[in-house]
Amino acid sequence: MPKLRKLFYLAIVLGLCLSAIPAESQRAAPLALDLVSAQVEQKQAAQPAQDPWWKHAVIYEIYPRSFQDSNGDGVGDINGITSRLDYLHDLGIDAIWITPMYPSPLVDFGYDVAYYTAIDPLYGTLADFDHLVAEAKKRGIRVIMDFVPNHTSDEHPWFKESRSSRSNPKRNWYIWRDAKGPGQPPNNWQSWFGHSAWEFDPATDQYYYHHFYVQQPDLNWRNPEVRKAMYDAMRFWLDRGVAGFRVDAVSRLFEDPNLHDDPILPGKNAYGDPNIQHKYTDNLPEIHDVLREMRRVVDAYSGSPVVISEADEPNIKELTKMYGAKDDEVQLPMDFQIADVNKLSAPEFRRLLDQVERNTAHGQPLFFFSNHDQPRQWDRYGDGVHNDQIAKLMATLLLTTRQTPLMYYGEEIGMRTTLPTRKEDVQDPIGKIGWPQEKGRDGERTPMQWDNSQGHGFSTADRTWLPIPPSAEPYNVSAESKDPGSILSFYKGLLALRQSEPALRNMGQGSYVPLNRDDPYVLAYLRKNPASGESVLVVLNMSGEPRTVKLDLASQGIKGSSAKMLIASPQPKETRMPLEHFVIAPFGAFVGSVR
Ligand code: GLC
Repeated sequence: MPKLRKLFYLAIVLGLCLSAIPAESQRAAPLALDLVSAQVEQKQAAQPAQDPWWKHAVIYEIYPRSFQDSNGDGVGDINGITSRLDYLHDLGIDAIWITPMYPSPLVDFGYDVAYYTAIDPLYGTLADFDHLVAEAKKRGIRVIMDFVPNHTSDEHPWFKESRSSRSNPKRNWYIWRDAKGPGQPPNNWQSWFGHSAWEFDPATDQYYYHHFYVQQPDLNWRNPEVRKAMYDAMRFWLDRGVAGFRVDAVSRLFEDPNLHDDPILPGKNAYGDPNIQHKYTDNLPEIHDVLREMRRVVDAYSGSPVVISEADEPNIKELTKMYGAKDDEVQLPMDFQIADVNKLSAPEFRRLLDQVERNTAHGQPLFFFSNHDQPRQWDRYGDGVHNDQIAKLMATLLLTTRQTPLMYYGEEIGMRTTLPTRKEDVQDPIGKIGWPQEKGRDGERTPMQWDNSQGHGFSTADRTWLPIPPSAEPYNVSAESKDPGSILSFYKGLLALRQSEPALRNMGQGSYVPLNRDDPYVLAYLRKNPASGESVLVVLNMSGEPRTVKLDLASQGIKGSSAKMLIASPQPKETRMPLEHFVIAPFGAFVGSVR
């Protein structure tokens, strides 16, 4: 075994041993950091020198309110995250994206920012944040901030000034317009979160525009002073060592200055408003000027900081535009097309993966299934009977294509969506406005399930900000760490494989080769390692029946007649599978090496 690989395995074994001891003592006894640092250096050395880190990284989204509470108030915090870095390191995570922790009245749980260059005391202090970044760095984990440029909180000092008078110097930092007629908003634009996007402010007798909640007034990105202030805020965090930004709701930055009405579509939405096409408030071409400017901000720093865009682009053409004509905008656009297939469909995943492969910018998107805004994948893709097996199938897809994978905390233990059952329990305002059709996003934001103790290792508080679901009993880190057949063990195996198999890690042009293109049930592809000729075969059965496929790999230069299993679920009886007659179990996932 080559020396470097040996080191990996040693560290993985150490990780497994550590995961078998109680979480508390894991945290008390820090990892052998010398070994970890050696592993980090080794990981970096294994990457082609010209590649930025994010091409090979696995990113993990943390919703800080729900990851780990360190002070017993029932809400997660920064020191809580720091105390769980060893877990993330053992799992095989390269970077964490933390959703907003800025001071905020928390109407939208942090996406209503009241100050861009500070930490809300609920989560800790700037010193805690610096400590987190430093401790993460020791473990080879980068920290990505969430950046919210489209709007501020109505409590932000800028907005308070802006609304104070029509002649205030900050008036033009937001979008203020006159009524269309007495009591009538300027036009028919609707908030993404229900009802008119205009709010009347009697103090100055004008309306302000809010794409999201009333308490989230939109900034005016046509004002150069706004742009400068926001780029300065980005620099503040880059100076503190963050590895980039996930830029929130970036396609919503501009609105039609002529205030054309949006086209009305048939039917009504969950809020009881007429459906409309957000034609004049979404994806206006000027967003690309801003993205170029943001890219220049991060490019001025060493270490290849990344810009990730949150924009639910409707098709590959729009997604491709996010990279910029000269690769000068977003490095990792979030791929909502794949995230929202919402059914197990081999042809649909194949079609979308083909499109990504052929995108004219040769870009690499960010691939995910779950996040804090949409129901978790365990139930969204599960059939209600085989959800654990399907979770492993989806994990295999997420972690073996050539896109950069993004995990959402808890998906690795099969956390499910647990919606409130009573309106009075709802925290997310969308759920209050849209109840009962729209129950909001609380269901995918419940606390992380660490163990079986009171508070499930998340908190010592009697009451946590959202209840811990009953499913925490069997589905938690401690229990699953001891079970080799658990979802967590499967994720760990896959993540370790990504590290040890260059064909899986390295994007390398042409390294994704779709196979059996007409198969309606089985998604199969080859990840080629152009350097060594050793390739990885991935076979995913997206149906509830066993399937047999014939895989002709000779045209890909593969001489062997079988694939040697690297990881699979369920485990086939044989570790070598014949390519001519490859049998795959219902919802089975197989990853093997071929040469
Ligand atoms: C993004 C966030 C979402 C938030 C919205 C408004 O879509 O992901 O959670 O509510 O922006 O800021």
